[in-house]
Amino acid sequence: MFGLGLSGQTTRLVVAVFFVVCGYLVVAQDSSNEGQPSSTDEPAFCNGLECPKFKEINKTQNYEERDYAPSRWVSTRLDAVKYDEAVDVLMMKLYHYIAGKNSRNQAIPMTAPVLCHVVLGRDGAHGESNITMFLYLSPSLTDPPEPTDNAVVLTDLPEQKVFTRSFGGFAKEDDYLKNTMALAEALVRDSEDFDNSYFYTASYDSPFKPLNRHNEVWYVAK
Ligand SMILES: *[C@@H]1O[C@H](CO)[C@@H](O)[C@H](O)[C@H]1NC(C)=O
Ligand SMILES: *[C@@H]1O[C@H](CO)[C@@H](O)[C@H](O)[C@H]1NC(C)=O
Repeated sequence: MFGLGLSGQTTRLVVAVFFVVCGYLVVAQDSSNEGQPSSTDEPAFCNGLECPKFKEINKTQNYEERDYAPSRWVSTRLDAVKYDEAVDVLMMKLYHYIAGKNSRNQAIPMTAPVLCHVVLGRDGAHGESNITMFLYLSPSLTDPPEPTDNAVVLTDLPEQKVFTRSFGGFAKEDDYLKNTMALAEALVRDSEDFDNSYFYTASYDSPFKPLNRHNEVWYVAK
């Protein structure tokens, strides 16, 4: 039922159902922590899901600079695609991995954010981009199962310093691009050195969260 030719709407529905399952897992986990101090030094925008560790280094009106620890992710990539059309396809591949389509048929808890590494095509904003989507793997998963789809790979990201700009709403490609441009302008104004050959988008919320949605764009510091 997850084959090619699935309509975008069906895909979104499946992804939405998946997030509800995750919501249940989060609740189950919380109740097992009863009597212990609340374990979350995670930012509120992670919605109680595990997310990669960082230290805030600097904060201005326009952006925040963070130092992310080395981290492990599961990822998949599509070249020469339009962002809004690619994200559902990429999400389904990673969803299958964490739902158990892997060497041990092991289900893996959902984390945050859904991270996309975006290299814009020559036509810039409205052309075709090379996009790699990543889901964070908890360090407690010391030996993650191998993907069985050979388009899906385990990837380590090094420690990196990133400049992040946050915004709300149901973010689409144009919102990410607008915020990427605003971030770049602010960084240039402040003479910050960053790699402008690519950027990341980070989204933290299920499709069912109507308010206080949190999205980010990142440039990696040089
Ligand atoms: C996208 O990836 C392809 C390789 O699959 C490469 O040839 C191309 O230059 C990349 N596009 C950009 C804009 O980097
Ligand atoms: C924070 O960034 C601003 C703008 O680039 C800079 O002027 C300031 O020195 C930075 N502060 C720290 C602690 O790095």
